[in-house]
Amino acid sequence: MSEECALRVLGIETSCDETGVAVYDSEQGLLGHSLYSQIKLHADFGGVVPELASRDHVRKTLPLITDTLKQTDGGLEQLDGIAYTAGPGLVGALLVGAAIGRSLAWTLDIPAVGVHHMEGHMLAPMLDERKPEFPFVALLVSGGHSQLVEVEAVGHYRLLGESIDDAAGEAFDKTAKLLGLPYPGGPELARLAEQGNPERFSFPRPMTDRPGLDFSFSGLKTFALNTMQQELAPELNLEPEIAQQTRADIARAFEDAVVDTMVIKCRRAVRETNCQTLVLAGGVAANRHLRQRMQLSMEKEGVELFYPNMQFCTDNGAMIAYAGCQRLVAGQSEELQFGARPRWPLEELTALD
Ligand code: KG4
Ligand code: ZN
Repeated sequence: MSEECALRVLGIETSCDETGVAVYDSEQGLLGHSLYSQIKLHADFGGVVPELASRDHVRKTLPLITDTLKQTDGGLEQLDGIAYTAGPGLVGALLVGAAIGRSLAWTLDIPAVGVHHMEGHMLAPMLDERKPEFPFVALLVSGGHSQLVEVEAVGHYRLLGESIDDAAGEAFDKTAKLLGLPYPGGPELARLAEQGNPERFSFPRPMTDRPGLDFSFSGLKTFALNTMQQELAPELNLEPEIAQQTRADIARAFEDAVVDTMVIKCRRAVRETNCQTLVLAGGVAANRHLRQRMQLSMEKEGVELFYPNMQFCTDNGAMIAYAGCQRLVAGQSEELQFGARPRWPLEELTALD
C-alpha cells in the first residue's frame, strides 16, 4: 500500500464494562491506546449494571480520546476514519460509543464504520508482529460468546459450533460467584485454581462424547455447586484452611474441565476443516492454562496457534480500531445513521472481496 492511501483510524469500544480507545494506522500500526475499566463501579453489585455502565462510558469516552490522541503524533485532524463497536453488547453502552464515534466522524467529515465486537476479538492477534494468516479456525470465548468459526478472510465466516447454553466466560463468572469470589469472576477463579490440586476432583467434559462442535457449559456450574454442597457442608465443620483448599480444588477441576473441553473441540475443528492455523481470542483466551494446553495440543496436530497479546485479549479499543481500519481500507463505511445491535450473528457480516 502506498503512503498516500494509509488510513489512520480511531477505535472506540463501549460494549460492556470497559471503555477502550485506540488509534491504528494502516501503515504504522498501533499508535496509541487507552483503557478504563469499570470494575470498581460494578463490584458491589456482583456483576455489570447496564445503566451504570452506559453513564460511565458517557463520562470516560471523550477524556480517553483526548489521552489517546496525545500518544500519537497528531490530533483529531490527522484521523481518516472512525470505528466504533456497534454490537453485540449492552445496547445503552453501545449507543454511547456509536453516538460519539458518529458525531466525531460527521464533524471531521470522515467515514465511520460500526464494528462487530467478536470480529474485533478475532482479529486482535493481528496487532502483533507475528500475525496469523488466513484461512484459520477461531475459538472465540468471551463473557457472552463461545464459538468456533472457520475464517476464510475478513468477513468470510462460517460458524462451526457454539455454546447451546452459557458462554465459557459466563460459566467462569457464575462458578466464581458460587465459590464466593468477587466480580469479575473469571480471572479470580483462575487465580484460585492455581492453588488447586488437579487430582482431587474430576468434572465431566460436556458434549465431547458425541460428534459435533457445539459446547455446553452450564452443567459444569451445577457440578461445581453439587461438589461444594457435599464437600463444604456446614456440618463438616471444616477448618478455614481446609475449606479454602477445597474451594481451590473445585476451581481447578472446573477450569480443567472447561479447558479440556475447548482443547478437544478445537482439535476436532482443525481436523475437520484441515486448517493449519488456530486463533484463540476473547476474554477467556487470557486464561493461562487454556493457552498452555492448547499450545501442546496444537503442536501435536502440526497446527500453528495464535492468541492476542494479554492486554488485547479482554475488551479494548485497539482491536476495534484494527478491525474498523481493515473495513475502511476496503472502502466500507456507513451512511450518516447509526444503530446498535445487542445481538448480531457473525455470519451476517458483509464480506470483504
Ligand atoms: O472479551 P471480554 O473481555 O468481554 C466480553 O466480550 O464478554 O471477556 C470477558 C470474560 C469474562 O467472562 C471473564 O471472566 C473472562 O472473560 N476472563 C477469564 C480470564 N480473564 C477474563 N476467564 C478465565 N480465565 C481468565 N484468566
Ligand atoms: Zn469482549
